[in-house]
Amino acid sequence: MSSLLVDDIGELVTNSAGEGAGKPLGIRRDVALLVEDGRVAWIGPARDAPAADRRIDAQGAAVLPGFVDSHAHLVFAGDRAAEFAARMAGEPYTGGGIRTTVGATRAASDDELRATVRRLRAEAMRQGTTAIEIKSGYGLTVADEARSLRIAAEFSDDTTFLGAHVVPAEYADRPDDYVGMVCGPMLAAAAPYARWIDVFCERGAFDVDHARAILACGQAVGLGVRVHANQLGPGPGVRLGVELGAASVDHCTHLTDADVDALAGSPTVATLLPGAEFSTRSPYPDARRLLDAGVTVALATDCNPGSSYTSSMPFCIALAVREMRMTPAEAVWAATAGGAAALRRDDVGRLRPGARADLMILDAPSHLHLAYRPGVPLIRQVLHNGVPQCR
Ligand code: NIG
Ligand code: FE
Repeated sequence: MSSLLVDDIGELVTNSAGEGAGKPLGIRRDVALLVEDGRVAWIGPARDAPAADRRIDAQGAAVLPGFVDSHAHLVFAGDRAAEFAARMAGEPYTGGGIRTTVGATRAASDDELRATVRRLRAEAMRQGTTAIEIKSGYGLTVADEARSLRIAAEFSDDTTFLGAHVVPAEYADRPDDYVGMVCGPMLAAAAPYARWIDVFCERGAFDVDHARAILACGQAVGLGVRVHANQLGPGPGVRLGVELGAASVDHCTHLTDADVDALAGSPTVATLLPGAEFSTRSPYPDARRLLDAGVTVALATDCNPGSSYTSSMPFCIALAVREMRMTPAEAVWAATAGGAAALRRDDVGRLRPGARADLMILDAPSHLHLAYRPGVPLIRQVLHNGVPQCR
């Protein structure tokens, strides 16, 4: 059994209540953390720290749980930088560019797709992300969705079947047939590699009846539900997610009081994706309204080549604090424990004995610096399953 002691931690964010814990981040000061076999084995005052095989000196810095990015589209080819530039010059975002990426993805080899996932996964890890959900959704044929998920599963336990991203061009005049195909052969080919099913429920993508049918088929074969909902305008997606017991409804940019009430009375997490509003020059979701209503809020990147080509959780935290009136503590919680809640996982997003030893050491004395020093690479070191990651 190998052991590693992270010593001289000035501020430890545990996201766990307990002796000496402050709220809501469960902050402990001047502690050490022992890792054994990839798990947190002990947390306590530095002076009581047990001996260990190896030691990392945090030099009084802040240590946080690794970020849990619960919404990312990493399996794709090509980019849409020109589309981004056009938006910054005034063009609206409609989701129409998804089909551009579908064309490039279908034309790519497995190895090209795998290299992109590996690159983005590594990029995210350098910025503190130690767990990341990965969606399909740029293949939209049986074979291309199945291979997207097969590749995603090489990098994450949280893989999501998003065959219902948009109706591909070849089915444009017969969406009912496409929905039948998604529920039939495509789901059968995808499900062995997927933990979740997702639908883009939005005008121009899938209406509520199609979305309900697809999500129900996924549930019937054991997949958990998540929904892309209320991104581009008000709509039924959030309430559909709540009705089906979704783990998370994502975007939540345009909400009515009824949507907020439905979320507040449910276990469904509202996952906010401020990178998408940044990159589409759209109004940000009203996080304050959700938090004040008692809704559990997560933050995620939505990393994808169209609406949000960032893998940076610190960037999302900074946006959430500056633009969405979340406190720094709320934003850090949402990016760690919130993401874990959105993925219904209790082994990540918190630092307590038994949790996965996924953590980051900051080049800063406090979690506040993540929003206070936007754009600065503050992640000094990342441990994933207790293993220090190369930079
Ligand atoms: O979450 N909204 C739908 N899907 C992605 C965007 C995909 C794209 O533009 O390529 C999203 O924003
Ligand atoms: Fe998305």
